[in-house]
Amino acid sequence: MLVANRLPFRRIDAGTETTWIPSPGGLVSALAPSMADTGRLAWVGWAGDIDEGTTPGTVLSAEVVVDGATLYPVPIDAEEKRLHYDGMSNGTLWPLYHDKISPPEFHRRWYDGYRRVNQRFAEAAATVAAPDSIVWVHDYQLQLVPGMVRELRPDLRIGYFLHIPFPPEELFVQLPWRQTLTAGILGSDLVGFQTPDGAANFSRLAAALGLAARHNKSTLELESGRRVQVRAFPIGIDSERYDEGARSHQVTDATRDLRARLGQPHIVLLGVDRLDYTKGIDVRLRAFKELLADGRLHPSQVTMVQVAEPSRDAVDAYVSLRGQVEQLVSEINGDFGRVGFPVVHYVHRSQSHESLLSLYRAADVMLVTPFRDGMNLVAKEYVATRYDETGMLVLSEFAGAAHQLKSAVLVNPYDIEGVKNAIVEAVEMAPDEVRRRMRSMRRAVKKNDAAAWARSFLDSMPAQAQPALG
Ligand code: G6P
Repeated sequence: MLVANRLPFRRIDAGTETTWIPSPGGLVSALAPSMADTGRLAWVGWAGDIDEGTTPGTVLSAEVVVDGATLYPVPIDAEEKRLHYDGMSNGTLWPLYHDKISPPEFHRRWYDGYRRVNQRFAEAAATVAAPDSIVWVHDYQLQLVPGMVRELRPDLRIGYFLHIPFPPEELFVQLPWRQTLTAGILGSDLVGFQTPDGAANFSRLAAALGLAARHNKSTLELESGRRVQVRAFPIGIDSERYDEGARSHQVTDATRDLRARLGQPHIVLLGVDRLDYTKGIDVRLRAFKELLADGRLHPSQVTMVQVAEPSRDAVDAYVSLRGQVEQLVSEINGDFGRVGFPVVHYVHRSQSHESLLSLYRAADVMLVTPFRDGMNLVAKEYVATRYDETGMLVLSEFAGAAHQLKSAVLVNPYDIEGVKNAIVEAVEMAPDEVRRRMRSMRRAVKKNDAAAWARSFLDSMPAQAQPALG
């Protein structure tokens, strides 16, 4: 059973009718397909809406089956969303774990709300998990859940996977709740990270806080004698779905239409991100603007498309980022566009799977320039759609994906000259070189797909629950 803050579908209540639409974010797109074939997918999580009508003490609303997955929604009211989701998860942990690109805030009330919501998730999981089964907890919003589930149900085997970077000890220890947050994760039998660095940071931290001794490279031993495995499991995508979808007639036609609507430019640059300050959307816009100003790229030949999916719009840092990005887009269009021919096409809406595929297919160069990113699945999705081995990826060294996609044009997003040079290098790369690099990236994406990732995590779980040692 999966436990993640978000269910794979978001509940939309319109009067008497309820519909469920796919949720945003990499976690959902990676997990849903890989788990679906391991039997009936059961998922405990938040439906993404506000639930004010629940009787106090209720940990689950009525279960519902959507697209073959059984969803167990955990009710969250407006105040809990403010404290747990907007506050502690996305105002404290997210910025701290992403190198403090935006300053994290530390508030006791946020933490209290976080603990309460984590307790509810743990109780919900403990209520529905079958005897002796595996509970797989996901991501930074639920760090206390493994320890809480262990208290409630010692018969279960507990896995935890962090989808975002785990920071170096020096950053993590700033958290006033460093001890309980680390102990919460250590409630697991197996802890997974996107990169070996994340795993090493966590093991070092657990030892430094006196919570565990290192037994060998990937095993921590707690005072009780219980062992916790700590390893990297780089997440993948359902590459076949992207590859096959990209080859369809519908997508081929939509791609042709899209390029025509863009005015048949010689080169299309593309960015697709949640509108998040970690993603470096501003960096690539600035680089593009300077390249146009320097005359190294020409507005009559190159067009950029930036899709920025709305995200976390109750958090201040996201509101101000939106202002910055939109200001830059309009500056570039004001300076270099012509009436009817903007040089940047900006979309602040989420996209259907099909329109994403045609965007990827229409793009000659994909720009993925985060300052820090756990993995970045967009980079892998782009590669998966390039079945004809065309197209080049400019990829930040600080995305987990850079460990697998070494043939991309790798950049340091803090080095604006480097980003400019990388864009030009990708635009001008000889077709043979593009093919060679894309082939090698496609091999990596295919081999380490979402199903392989989930299998390798689940196969690493202990065969049975460890004796109740704490
Ligand atoms: C990242 C996180 C996920 C999160 C997703 C979307 O991928 O690792 O846990 O669900 O972003 O963000 P949101 O705040 O909308 O859930």
